[in-house]
Amino acid sequence: MKSISIVFAALLFAAVTGQPEAAKNPLAEAKIIAPDKSLLLPLTVKAVSSHQAYDMDKNDCSSCHKNKDPKNPGPLSNTNISASCIECHDDFKKLVTLKYKHKPMEVDCTLCHNPHDSTKVKLLINEPDALCMTCHDPIKNVASSCKVKHGALTLQKKCLNCHNPHATQNEHLLVKPAFELCMDCHGKDGLTNHLGHPLPNMKTLLTNNPEQHGPVASKECTACHLPHGSDNYCVLNDQYPTGLYSNYDPKLYALCFQCHEESAFATATTTTATQFRNGEKNLHYVHVNKVERGRSCRICHETHAATHKHQIRDAVPYGKGGWMLKINYTQTSTGGSCTATCHSTRSYTNVVVKVAAIAPAAPSTTSSAVVK
Ligand code: HEC
Ligand code: HEC
Ligand code: HEC
Ligand code: HEC
Ligand code: HEC
Ligand code: HEC
Ligand code: HEC
Ligand code: HEC
Ligand code: HEC
Repeated sequence: MKSISIVFAALLFAAVTGQPEAAKNPLAEAKIIAPDKSLLLPLTVKAVSSHQAYDMDKNDCSSCHKNKDPKNPGPLSNTNISASCIECHDDFKKLVTLKYKHKPMEVDCTLCHNPHDSTKVKLLINEPDALCMTCHDPIKNVASSCKVKHGALTLQKKCLNCHNPHATQNEHLLVKPAFELCMDCHGKDGLTNHLGHPLPNMKTLLTNNPEQHGPVASKECTACHLPHGSDNYCVLNDQYPTGLYSNYDPKLYALCFQCHEESAFATATTTTATQFRNGEKNLHYVHVNKVERGRSCRICHETHAATHKHQIRDAVPYGKGGWMLKINYTQTSTGGSCTATCHSTRSYTNVVVKVAAIAPAAPSTTSSAVVK
């Protein structure tokens, strides 16, 4: 357990200090790309949004330009455009005191807004997501070329589902802490994934399953999931087998081994690497580390939360019909047991008998496994 805490502490440290991680994050790279000046001119076609400060009928352009005359408005009276915007939009005086500010908002409001009118809502010079992508090439590339896309980027308000374009109190300009964002959309019934398979209601799942996985309990959904899309299934940030079985290769469990020690699965005997052992016999190794059809973590553990200790699941969906095979895990003071499912009742004790040359207790039964 110590090793987990150490790896996790390192992650937490990076999360708290922020800077070193962010500096290394290639996705955070953005350039200020100024729009074509023609996008800031008054429209000659029908507008979708019009600025109250800009009204051809009032014959007064002088709130920003030197002259009132719409035919000859002349140059701007204040060359610092943002400062002139904020004169009327004084709520922005408060925005610039928030902890996280969007760089272009501090540079020039007209990087995103036409001061007169626009064919887009809110005087924007482009549709919000296309606008965001002009300066955020790395996100554009992830969103367009990843194998598993996340509906959150294309539905409803797109990037603005999660980000505020101006300033927030939340890291990464998030409109709410990430966990709450995830729960707003995933705390509902009836959602399906990109292949049309039903997705669980995460709110119900977490309420009904008190034994929550460390990073889930600390509300860090993004410790494992990428918000903008991924090449790994379930938008995971690293590899994890998609099924119940997998020919053992530590690379396939890279997701888990970001925080847990691979050594718990590497050797047939151990007294330290894992508590899932019978005496010295490493039962993690027995189940997972097989050249062919090793059991994936999923066969025993629920990734997010479970009713049993160590996130041991109640049952495994088995066979084409998704028949639920009960595990019946019971925890004991020195280990645990599983009853007549994959194999007949077996128990383990992780207390090693200290007398040399005495073999660890044999499993309570030896009948062969059912699930092959
Ligand atoms: C809210 C502020 C604001 C108001 C009100 C406003 N403008 Fe502008 N206008 C701007 C800004 C900002 C620019 C872009 C200046 C730049 O970056 O070159 C601009 C540029 C222009 C240009 C292009 C100027 C050039 O040199 O190419 C025209 C034409 C123009 N405005 C017409 C008008 C007219 C006509 C009115 C009144 C009916 C008006 N504007 C009212 C802010 C405003
Ligand atoms: C003379 C006062 C004034 C100035 C200067 C001004 N605005 Fe406005 N703006 C308004 C008013 C009034 C509204 C309508 C009420 C509101 O939404 O707050 C408005 C609305 C907006 C909206 C929302 C439009 C919508 O469709 O909902 C945007 C975006 C905006 N302004 C951007 C700017 C930018 C960018 C500048 C600087 C180039 C600027 N404003 C300068 C007065 C001004
Ligand atoms: C990076 C692009 C970007 C920059 C820079 C930017 N905005 Fe916006 N702004 C947006 C987007 C996107 C929205 C629409 C938000 C939404 O619909 O939730 C918006 C909305 C607004 C609104 C309407 C708010 C509302 O709730 O309807 C105002 C007013 C506004 N911006 C003013 C400004 C001012 C003033 C500046 C400069 C200090 C500025 N913006 C700089 C992207 C930008
Ligand atoms: C005109 C260019 C430009 C546009 C348009 C733009 N951004 Fe940015 N954005 C930047 C720059 C520059 C940074 C600062 C990057 C840095 O800190 O190195 C930034 C930072 C961010 C960050 C914070 C990154 C972090 O890790 O803290 C987020 C999130 C973000 N932008 C989202 C958006 C969204 C959403 C939109 C569309 C509404 C958008 N951007 C539009 C240039 C832009
Ligand atoms: C489902 C919510 C969600 C949506 C939708 C979303 N983002 Fe993000 N975005 C996040 C989260 C969460 C982070 C912080 C990631 C982290 O902590 O690793 C983030 C981080 C970022 C960053 C900082 C770089 C990084 O990855 O850490 C940028 C830039 C950014 N987003 C831009 C965008 C743009 C542009 C869009 C639209 C194409 C968008 N985001 C859509 C949730 C979202
Ligand atoms: C604006 C709503 C919205 C938000 C916010 C949101 N999601 Fe999603 N997410 C969806 C939708 C819709 C789907 C299913 C359809 C799709 O991905 O195309 C989905 C799918 C997923 C999937 C399954 C992907 C697959 O197809 O295999 C995962 C995992 C996921 N989201 C995790 C998260 C996490 C973690 C967060 C918070 C960072 C989050 N989502 C925030 C709407 C959202
Ligand atoms: C420790 C890593 C980890 C964390 C933290 C995590 N997830 Fe997951 N998530 C996974 C894995 C792995 C899967 C793939 C399905 C499985 O094995 O259970 C998954 C699948 C999902 C799915 C799709 C479920 C399905 O049955 O297809 C959703 C939705 C989801 N996660 C949302 C969340 C939300 C919301 C959070 C934050 C409360 C979160 N995840 C935190 C690892 C994680
Ligand atoms: C971001 C780091 C992180 C990732 C990734 C991660 N875990 Fe964990 N895991 C933790 C933390 C933190 C704990 C709690 C440790 C503690 O209680 O000391 C934990 C605890 C566990 C436990 C329960 C241990 C116990 O004895 O109660 C299991 C089982 C587990 N993780 C399995 C997995 C699996 C399977 C994966 C890959 C799908 C995974 N973890 C990925 C951080 C992580
Ligand atoms: C055959 C069922 C089974 C499989 C498969 C399995 N585990 Fe476990 N695991 C357990 C049991 C039972 C425990 C509880 C041991 C105890 O403390 O009594 C456990 C404990 C853990 C712990 C707590 C620390 C430890 O080793 O005692 C972690 C972390 C963990 N498992 C991660 C994983 C990961 C990662 C995978 C996949 C690579 C995996 N497990 C596969 C049954 C399993």
